[in-house]
Amino acid sequence: MTPLDVIVAARDGKKISRKEIYDFVAAVATHRVPDYLVSAFLMAVYLKGIDRDSAVIFTQALRDSGAVIHYNHLSGPAVDKHSTGGVGDKITLALAPLVAACGVPVPMLAGRGLGHTGGTIDKMEAIPGTQTHLSPARFQEQVETLGVCIGAQTDDFAPVDGIFYALRDVTGTIDSYPLVTASILSKKLAAGASALVLDIKVGRGAFFQTRDRAEILRDWLVGVGRDAGLWVSAFLTNMNEPLGTHVGNALEMREVFDILQGKGPPDTTELTLVLGSEMLMLGGRADSSEHGRALLQQAISDGSGLARMNGLFQAQGGDPSVLEDPNWGISAHLDVLYAPRAGFISHIDALTVGEIARALGAGRMRVDDVIDPEVGMIFLKKSGAHIDKGEPLVHVHHRGDPQSTNIARSCLNAFSFSDDPPKSEALILDIQHGK
Ligand code: URA
Repeated sequence: MTPLDVIVAARDGKKISRKEIYDFVAAVATHRVPDYLVSAFLMAVYLKGIDRDSAVIFTQALRDSGAVIHYNHLSGPAVDKHSTGGVGDKITLALAPLVAACGVPVPMLAGRGLGHTGGTIDKMEAIPGTQTHLSPARFQEQVETLGVCIGAQTDDFAPVDGIFYALRDVTGTIDSYPLVTASILSKKLAAGASALVLDIKVGRGAFFQTRDRAEILRDWLVGVGRDAGLWVSAFLTNMNEPLGTHVGNALEMREVFDILQGKGPPDTTELTLVLGSEMLMLGGRADSSEHGRALLQQAISDGSGLARMNGLFQAQGGDPSVLEDPNWGISAHLDVLYAPRAGFISHIDALTVGEIARALGAGRMRVDDVIDPEVGMIFLKKSGAHIDKGEPLVHVHHRGDPQSTNIARSCLNAFSFSDDPPKSEALILDIQHGK
């Protein structure tokens, strides 16, 4: 079959064999298929869909388009965690070193900010000197010696996913369940994970905002992941409000530092413990979620989680000691926004906050935009808090020019107020255990 035959079969919803899928991906890997044909293929899959079996093969073909790590010297199964993306979601950066400190190896290929959501790699690069473009050999060596590595997807890992992703981004084919599933899982498999904890976000700040859509995505990821040989646990978690208190790249690193010292906000600390204990169970270190929590809490109180985070950054060339200076990483251009009325904060809209953070320079409007790590928000009050008129609600750190000042002031639009206390929303909406 030529690439065109594969496209026509996908367009007509016909079954494509394992060999045909592998041949097509190999032809894309060696640049023998022009972008217009690849785009046509992606649109055909987007519109017609593919069945689960084909999605598994497609995932494996993307994985095999680059290096695939097989660990030789690990104490147990390597466990990864993936969030579908949110606002203020810095959990990975606290979780990965904590879980590693409890004895479970964590290999992670993470992403940059996408749309209104932040990305782990951008947050890491806020720490001066940090390298995230690591060769597969270097990545493997760090997981085997330190127990944790967080790298960016490069041309070495699942390169055809990189080609597909760039084309999906500009052809309206991002939000396809099988394409998202294959894209996410191929990278996890390439980095050598044996097990995966999924944090699927639901709500205003999530890509798939409704519960129905999040559940469909969960079922795709769990089904294809298991058929491709991973143990997969899946959580649906609330992304209506920004997570934690800090939003922005260096600012979120400050909150990670707090979480690892036992001083983090309740929601980000809780999510770290819940997802982390699931990783410890999949990795064979904990026999219940209570046991897992206790191990993680111990790693917070004895400082071993923080030490592992310092080791992670140092191994990747970064200088995490900057976090010891409480003023580091926070732009001095500050607008404090005050409550326009007395009452309760009934909601802080994650999507509005994410868009404002992006417009301030914490994210990108165009792929080649340069991130400003020092801009973002620190929330002094969250939903449910009783407030007096004129009480400070949020610090917005920005670049200081008139446009940034205006954007910063619009952050008040993210808040809703009420006379009565709002009903509190659950953080964890659903759990499927994977072993
Ligand atoms: N993240 C990925 O890696 N791929 C997608 O398609 C969407 C989110």
